[in-house]
Amino acid sequence: MKISVDLGERSYEVVVGEGVRTQLASLIALRAPRAERVAIVTSSSLRAQPWFDFEVGLATSILELPDGEQAKRPEHYVALVEALAERSLSRHDVVVGVGGGAITDVAGFAAATYLRGVPVIHVATTVAGQVDAAIGGKTGVNLRTGKNLLGAFHQPLGVLCDLATLHTLPERERRAGMGEVVKCALLEAQSSAWLARSSFESQMELAIALKARLVASDEREGSSRALLNYGHTLAHALEREAMVRSDVSLRHGEAVAIGLAFAARLARAVGRLDDRGVAEHDAALNIFQLPTRVPSVFDSSALLEAMSHDKKAHHDLTFVLAGAEGFSVVSGLAPDVVRTALDQFRGES
Ligand SMILES: NC(=O)c1ccc[n+]([C@@H]2O[C@H](COP(=O)([O-])OP(=O)(O)OC[C@H]3O[C@@H](n4cnc5c(N)ncnc54)[C@H](O)[C@@H]3O)[C@@H](O)[C@H]2O)c1
Repeated sequence: MKISVDLGERSYEVVVGEGVRTQLASLIALRAPRAERVAIVTSSSLRAQPWFDFEVGLATSILELPDGEQAKRPEHYVALVEALAERSLSRHDVVVGVGGGAITDVAGFAAATYLRGVPVIHVATTVAGQVDAAIGGKTGVNLRTGKNLLGAFHQPLGVLCDLATLHTLPERERRAGMGEVVKCALLEAQSSAWLARSSFESQMELAIALKARLVASDEREGSSRALLNYGHTLAHALEREAMVRSDVSLRHGEAVAIGLAFAARLARAVGRLDDRGVAEHDAALNIFQLPTRVPSVFDSSALLEAMSHDKKAHHDLTFVLAGAEGFSVVSGLAPDVVRTALDQFRGES
């Protein structure tokens, strides 16, 4: 299936399905007809996967970054753009990010900045990468002070979401990625019953179509794109706290799942959602065995403090909340309301 991201002259397609990575050569020929060189940015472990079989018919370099979040250290970004320069990549040539969100974030940022911008295509190989990171043009590198503090908007020429690459994904990564898919299903008012009976492919397509639509309507996250932060206020706080502890590991999608369960309860606490809505959130998350409780090691006061400093919140304590009229960004919630909802959430058996 092809899903369009409609952004005028910067529009592109996200191709979803088993085996779509084989379309890379034709995508480059179509979108970058003057390209003579291609730089594939990936990691050594991804390069060793059985599906890593790219043949684009142009002078191709394969450039490796470390796996996971390590890839987003600024020194790897600098080494990457140096490598592009050493290979004389020109503005007609193409950078291809092959990997999860960490790889595509750095490949995208390198493409955004090298020669003041060269074309990029993403082949997303994680669930989170396919439904989220590879689409929408946000790129980023981490600084010591925080995640994604260095970045740019740079839309790709196209995105290939090859479901076959997900077969080698560790089970925990795959399951965590479903946290973002459940988020999208909830935002699209799909029931837990739909999630239980629908195919993985249609769940992915629903999530990708939502992301494509929200990016098209609000590229720079001034309004509707912010709805994609559903569940993320608590999730970011949990991730921030988890970073300074050695006794807990939390994948982003797991943190989002807990954040969604909490957002439903907070919406109920402020009269926007009923018990049925809360139960629907839990049922949807349970289908994928996602966590729905804050691990006991976390301190509620620290979480509350972290939530009020969420970098995506322009005001104190901002949440995306469900409501009778749909979802909206709700700012300025009273700290005691959030604290009570959090304590009750944590007290649930
Ligand atoms: N730009 C955006 O809009 C955006 C949105 C969401 C997340 N992100 C970023 O994405 C990053 C997280 O991305 P992620 O969740 O995709 O994880 P990831 O990129 O860190 O990958 C997780 C692990 O899975 C491995 N892996 C990837 N694909 C595989 C495959 N097919 N088979 C086997 N192993 C595979 C990776 O090597 C890595 O070890 C974060 O840095 C986050 O900030 C960006």
